[in-house]
Formats: sequence, C-alpha cells, structure tokens
Amino acid sequence: MKIAILGAGNVGGALGKLWASQGHEVCFGARDPLSAKVQAALKGAGPTARVASPAEAVAAADLVLLAVPWAAVADLAQAGIDWQGKIVMDAVNRMPPGGHASSMGEEVARALHGARVVKAFNTTGSANMNGQPYGDQRVDIHLCSDDAAAKAIVADFVRGSGFEPVDCGPLANSALTESLAALWVTLAYRLGNGPNIMFKLARRQTNLHHE
Ligand SMILES: NC(=O)c1ccc[n+]([C@@H]2O[C@H](COP(=O)([O-])OP(=O)(O)OC[C@H]3O[C@@H](n4cnc5c(N)ncnc54)[C@H](OP(=O)(O)O)[C@@H]3O)[C@@H](O)[C@H]2O)c1
Repeated sequence: MKIAILGAGNVGGALGKLWASQGHEVCFGARDPLSAKVQAALKGAGPTARVASPAEAVAAADLVLLAVPWAAVADLAQAGIDWQGKIVMDAVNRMPPGGHASSMGEEVARALHGARVVKAFNTTGSANMNGQPYGDQRVDIHLCSDDAAAKAIVADFVRGSGFEPVDCGPLANSALTESLAALWVTLAYRLGNGPNIMFKLARRQTNLHHE
C-alpha cells in the first residue's frame, strides 16, 4: 500500500517505521521536510520511506494517516490538499479533552472535504504502535466511520499490521473513543502506570444456546 503520513511525531514516526518494515510505501507529508521530527521519522522508517509536501503525499496515497495536533487540522484543511475519495485514518486527539459540542472525528470529516474518515489509532499510546502484542493479545484499534467500505479496508489493513480492529460504529461514536484516549493518557501519565498499557475488548466463549 502507498501510505501518506501527515504528522511525523510519536504516532506518525512509530507507525511509519512499522508499515515500512512490512513493505508498505511510506511517504511523510511534511510542512518542513528538514524538521527534526521528520528527519527522525525518515531515519526510523528506513531507506524506502520518503518525504513530500502534504498535498503530494496525499495525492499519491492509497491510505492517509492523520497524526497531527488538533490545532493543525485547520491548517491542513486550507493547505490545498485534494481529499476527494481519500481514506483518512484519523488518530487526532484534542488535549485537554472534554466540553466539546461534537466529536473530533466528525469535525475532521467536515474540515477535510471529500475525505472518507475512519477514526483509528487514537485510543492507545505510540509505544503500542510497533505492532507487538501483549503475550498472545493484539493491541485493539478502535474504528469509527460512516463509510462502511472505507472502514472495512482500514480494518483489513489494521489486522495485517498486527493489531486487532474493533468496530465501534459510526463516526459520531468517535466521541466515545476520544474519551477512551483521555482515560488511557490519565492512566499512563497521571496515575503512574506508564505507557505499556492497553485496553482490550475480551469476548467470553459462548455457544448459540444461551446458558
Ligand atoms: N502520542 C501518542 O501516544 C498519541 C496516541 C494516539 C493519538 N495521538 C494523537 O495523535 C496526534 C499526533 O500526536 P504525536 O504525539 O505524534 O504528536 P507530535 O509528536 O507532537 O508530532 C506532531 C507532528 O505534527 C506536525 N505538525 C504540527 N503542526 C502542524 C501543522 N500546522 N501542519 C502540518 N503538520 C504539523 C509536526 O510537524 P513538525 O515536524 O514540522 O514539527 C509533527 O511532525 C495528536 O493529535 C495526538 O493527540 C497521540
């Protein structure tokens, strides 16, 4: 897959490294190709990864990862990028959370005209984005979208990357996953658990005849 990564920080850097190692064509879309974060991300992802302007990276991509700070979404909406039909995995969280009228996922979809937005990769820390499981349990990636076909493509890609996709319904439900992200940050950094923690959806094995 050709993957454009907008935001080459903790999240974009970790996932870029993972996807490049899995044979995907990673292109960081950067406002400044020489920034320290972009250079570190390029180094981490290895020689197959490249950098381009955000508009060029998105134009060439099968899938786009949005991994910028919330405040940068408005900039990207006005950066002359053609979002039409592009599947955008939106990992953006707004910190501090709370007190907002609608979900960020919906606001991103409104801002990036024509993008097929799938909220993804926002509920766990970047330390969990190396594709490594916890024992035999894969890290859950919660997906919200109003575009069933885009969500199915992202779910397959997430599974192929070493994670477990969890369908969390329509994009409006990203408000719920954004709260989960805030809880993850609180547990990791305010309550002393550190970043090697994850939420896991567990399913009890039941047969069709209810017990
Ligand atoms: N950190 C986590 O564990 C984690 C987990 C899940 C979700 N998230 C969310 O994912 C997003 C990225 O987090 P992060 O920790 O990876 O951030 P980060 O390390 O601060 O990196 C942010 C990246 O966004 C770029 N950027 C900033 N403003 C921009 C603008 N106006 N236009 C274009 N690019 C811009 C920066 O570019 P430069 O290189 O030019 O500075 C940098 O490469 C945030 O919304 C965060 O809430 C974070």
